[in-house]
Amino acid sequence: MSQIKTKLTGVPRTLLLPLRGRAEAQAHPDPLFQDPLSVEWLKLVGWDQELEASDLKFGEAFTIAMAIRTIYHDQIASRHIANSSHPVVVELGAGLSSRFHRVGQNAYRWFDLDLPVVTELRRKLDTPTQQHQFISASVMDFNWMDTVSEVAPENILFIAEGLLMYFDVHEVQQLIDVMHSRFPGATLDLEVLGNYAKLYSKTLTQIGAPLKWLVKNEADLVAMGLQVVNVCPLFQLYPECWPWQWQLILRFLNQFPYFRNGYLMVETKL
Ligand SMILES: C[S@@+](CC[C@H](N)C(=O)[O-])C[C@H]1O[C@@H](n2cnc3c(N)ncnc32)[C@H](O)[C@@H]1O
Repeated sequence: MSQIKTKLTGVPRTLLLPLRGRAEAQAHPDPLFQDPLSVEWLKLVGWDQELEASDLKFGEAFTIAMAIRTIYHDQIASRHIANSSHPVVVELGAGLSSRFHRVGQNAYRWFDLDLPVVTELRRKLDTPTQQHQFISASVMDFNWMDTVSEVAPENILFIAEGLLMYFDVHEVQQLIDVMHSRFPGATLDLEVLGNYAKLYSKTLTQIGAPLKWLVKNEADLVAMGLQVVNVCPLFQLYPECWPWQWQLILRFLNQFPYFRNGYLMVETKL
């Protein structure tokens, strides 16, 4: 397949960041997960050199953090699929996630939802099937929910990886409210950023993807009506993945709520 010409802007452009992280994680002698598709898709889509010139750092720490968040959500999806009678997974703001190909084989249905510009790009790389479908819509256009309206909520896992921080708090609240009324008891696996992420605010604004929703900690999610089942601060997971000097620094920093709450992955029930 030849290189695909595409020019992503705004928040869709950020899909290149985790795609690159997953692809580069494969260079590790013993990667946390196998993901040849991310390597192939990154080659085909190409890297955005303007991002290289931004203040975002794409070194070893970036790759490790992206790998850890990937395996965390993979495990949530695998567990859901193993424990549900008719497991359905919906990735919201899926970008070029290749999670279905890593862990989705036994799902009854798997939906990758993203904006039309991204779904169009996915169609050039990936082939939909009855089991693995693409939804071309904004997550805020609630009609997409009709696609899974017949499914019992306990069979549904929604994954919002690297998505909700780009909406303002009122939009996130509205989305949670509607999802709660349509799918009470379904699992929503989401990521939230704390005030620590403000360090990256300026750069993300410059690349057209300002961070809009930051939380103090998981109590903010409870206040929004979510039932928190499990919280994983990203920098506390898989400490052995980090070089030993960083392990010491992270062990020290993780004691401080400001750092601990900087990047949370939270399993919730609607
Ligand atoms: C940082 S990327 C994350 C992509 C993917 N979840 C991953 O981790 O590889 C953010 C994604 O959110 C998508 N997005 C932004 N606004 C959206 C909206 N209103 N509805 C659906 N997806 C949206 C972008 O197109 C982009 O693919």
